[in-house]
Amino acid sequence: MPNADEPRSREPAPRRVSVEQDGPVVVEGPVEVVADDGTVAVSDRFAVAICTCRRSASYPWCDTSHRAHERRRKDRT
Ligand code: FES
Repeated sequence: MPNADEPRSREPAPRRVSVEQDGPVVVEGPVEVVADDGTVAVSDRFAVAICTCRRSASYPWCDTSHRAHERRRKDRT
């Protein structure tokens, strides 16, 4: 039980955002994503992957399309 003399922290827990190399940004949900055209996408999921490559058919959500692009890029090297 917290001590009544101690100030209570009012700071919310920081939201974790993970950046994947050549992939999406994974954000702990729920989230609202505002696109550059002003549209708003909402997800109540525990964590969501937000597309950073713009290849997703379900943008702004990552649909793993970035993986095929990454494979082609590695095949050329
Ligand atoms: S980052 Fe995964 S489809 Fe764009």
